[in-house]
Amino acid sequence: MSKDQEPARTSAFSRTTITELMIPSYANFGGKIHGGILLSLMDKVAYATASKHSGAYCVTVSVDTVDFLQPVEVGELVSLKASINYVGNSSMVVGIKVVSENVKTAHTKHTNTCYFTMVAKGEDDKPTRVPKLILETATDVRRFVEAIYRRKFKQNYETNLKEIKNNWEKQDIDALLENQRCINKLSKEA
Ligand SMILES: CC(C)(COP(=O)(O)OP(=O)(O)OC[C@H]1O[C@@H](n2cnc3c(N)ncnc32)[C@H](O)[C@@H]1OP(=O)(O)O)[C@@H](O)C(=O)NCCC(=O)NCCS
Repeated sequence: MSKDQEPARTSAFSRTTITELMIPSYANFGGKIHGGILLSLMDKVAYATASKHSGAYCVTVSVDTVDFLQPVEVGELVSLKASINYVGNSSMVVGIKVVSENVKTAHTKHTNTCYFTMVAKGEDDKPTRVPKLILETATDVRRFVEAIYRRKFKQNYETNLKEIKNNWEKQDIDALLENQRCINKLSKEA
């Protein structure tokens, strides 16, 4: 198949929103919604979006930075808006924006944004090629480029961490831990 004949889809094709009312059984001991409930909803919407784009069964490979910026309360209506931000060969990055609404006041708050990397699998359970992403808007382009940068930053992070681990003996551990809130019983100065 030539490059031009390869299947391609817009992000609009697979854009998905899941909305769920936060019921009391979702709450933690502090009365706020469990982070795990939100993670599970994010995983569901990521799966639906990636499967729509690829037309295949998909698995979650990686979750990029889930920061809970504001608590979600019981009784709020949580919407998870997901779209394909980036497409590799078999992988897709699904960007998810989570918004929580107080149904009585209609006040909404943005609780977090995160990025799930999903991989499409074929009948043989091996990664399978997914359609290209058609970038129609400036937002589509920005999201695709940001995903490329996040990928590069992650690779750099992994390389740096590996280097630190490989050169562990060369680290000045005492200096690194000097102003940290720990008591290092292995300190050379102890
Ligand atoms: C993800 C998985 C399919 C990768 O299989 P693999 O044989 O290593 O295949 P590849 O190395 O070709 O990787 C496939 C794609 O995943 C991507 N990938 C693999 N590990 C990744 C990671 N940690 N972060 C981001 N992308 C990753 C690769 O970059 C590649 O993308 P591309 O095809 O767009 O270039 C395999 O590790 C797997 O099935 N993992 C379990 C997933 C799962 O069960 N998730 C549910 C959680 S319980």
